[in-house]
Amino acid sequence: MKALLLAGGKGTRLRPLTYTTAKQLVPVANKPILYYALEAVREAGIRDVGVIVGATRAEIEAAVGDGRRWDVRITYLPQPEPLGIAHAVKIAHPYLGDEPFLLFLGDNLIQGGVRHLVHEFNSLDAAALILLKEVADPRAFGVAEVDASGRVIRLVEKPSVPPSNLALVGVYLFRPAVHEVIATLQPSARGELEITDAIQGLLDRGERVVARRLSGWWLDTGKKDDMLEANRVVLEDLQPSIEGEVDAESRVAGRVVIGPGTRLVRSTVRGPAAIGAGCELVDAFIGPYTSIADGARIVSSEVDHSIVLEGSVIHLPGQRLADCLIGRHATITRAGTRPAALRLLLADDSEVSLP
Ligand code: TTP
Repeated sequence: MKALLLAGGKGTRLRPLTYTTAKQLVPVANKPILYYALEAVREAGIRDVGVIVGATRAEIEAAVGDGRRWDVRITYLPQPEPLGIAHAVKIAHPYLGDEPFLLFLGDNLIQGGVRHLVHEFNSLDAAALILLKEVADPRAFGVAEVDASGRVIRLVEKPSVPPSNLALVGVYLFRPAVHEVIATLQPSARGELEITDAIQGLLDRGERVVARRLSGWWLDTGKKDDMLEANRVVLEDLQPSIEGEVDAESRVAGRVVIGPGTRLVRSTVRGPAAIGAGCELVDAFIGPYTSIADGARIVSSEVDHSIVLEGSVIHLPGQRLADCLIGRHATITRAGTRPAALRLLLADDSEVSLP
């Protein structure tokens, strides 16, 4: 079986980060989201992985390479325009051939991997296996209507009146019949070929679509708060390791990773938290559920429940940063000069929320 990993798309909901970074490469617990998907695919025994790429192709290729690191063979499949998930499957049809495949959205994370699902699908006589998860607000997702026995009756994309609270998780298994359905699809109101329509098409043709409820967590990292939630959940499972230097006046408590070459001076890191390599923390307090990427410098500041990317500098005496997603090489400082005004140089679509 081959896997199809989707790493194209627009990532509009994660601007401005996605102006310069592929959404799938934003790190969660200091590891790009896409790497979790690659690990899950390999762990399920799949060696051939097609990766759909769009405008961020160069960056994805630089991060994933030929897949040797995961012991998989990567084939890059350019999608000229992000015209939908089913469109990506259409582009990949020649690569996938007429065999079953695993479709994995590159910005989704699921607990426990996909090995058991792949195994189950291989022994099932079904055109598709989908995963469902209860969510608080299903309106932002593909939603399934199921009967009392759990059989899928109907699927709808982002319904204003959801038929259930069961969202369609971004991991699917298909047999080649799906390509025939996709060949007949028309773009939806938002101009995309929808995977929900493709699955609905299978149902309409009388094909068997099996749904399984996901018991563990599912993280769909489309927006800032989803990223922070993914970071929180993944950090809970962190294996502690301290490679950097922690001076006598610093304290590290709970599950914490401190990368090589990082220095803590009179600082506290309260886990779960991940600090990358080559960082400098001086008179800093890093609270739980925080990931700080390589080369960041945090001085006289408190940061918690946040993700800070490579090389950023935070120097904000007396101020606490919480629920932040800060891009690469950003600088946040207190100037101390008059007039005491906020001086901002922000990227397009940035968000600043002052107390
Ligand atoms: P989405 O999150 O649905 O779409 P998006 O990435 O364009 O984001 P936004 O809505 O914020 O603009 O995509 C889910 C995953 O599938 C994501 O990893 C990107 C990928 N994708 C493609 O590779 N090609 C596509 O045509 C689409 C729509 C998504």
